[in-house]
Amino acid sequence: MKLQVNGAFHDVDVEPDMPLLWVLRDELNIKGPKFGCGAGLCGACTVIIDGQAVRSCQTFASDVTTDVRTIDGLAKGDTLHAVQQAWLDEQVAQCGYCQAGQIMNAVALLENNPNPTDADIDDAMSGNLCRCGTYPRIRAAIKRAAATKVEA
Ligand code: FES
Ligand code: FES
Repeated sequence: MKLQVNGAFHDVDVEPDMPLLWVLRDELNIKGPKFGCGAGLCGACTVIIDGQAVRSCQTFASDVTTDVRTIDGLAKGDTLHAVQQAWLDEQVAQCGYCQAGQIMNAVALLENNPNPTDADIDDAMSGNLCRCGTYPRIRAAIKRAAATKVEA
């Protein structure tokens, strides 16, 4: 099947029910999305499809018909995406394992709601778990990024 990821088309020879996360990491060597729970419970594997944050571990490759955006394609050359820059400025990451998923979830939030309230942030981010407890810094970074124009 053909899969578009971060604007580039790839031919992949996989079973239709292979989870997208497996295709990205093992077939295409796109390692931004992480395997956490494999059950839709942690958000480490989050990508954006059709403007929505999606758990790639719960998405069949054959169900993907439009471009898949991963953190690997977020920066433009040497210029970080506003959300990545905000993450750096707020020094959000601790171990870092969950952060690619957190960032992609935050990007989808801000593209759909450029000025989220605290409640909006909590609601949108509640499915992304962080064992290091970086939640306060994640919220601060989202607010910082919201002050910048976030473009799709
Ligand atoms: S690995 Fe997909 S939600 Fe946890
Ligand atoms: S930074 Fe360690 S799990 Fe989130």
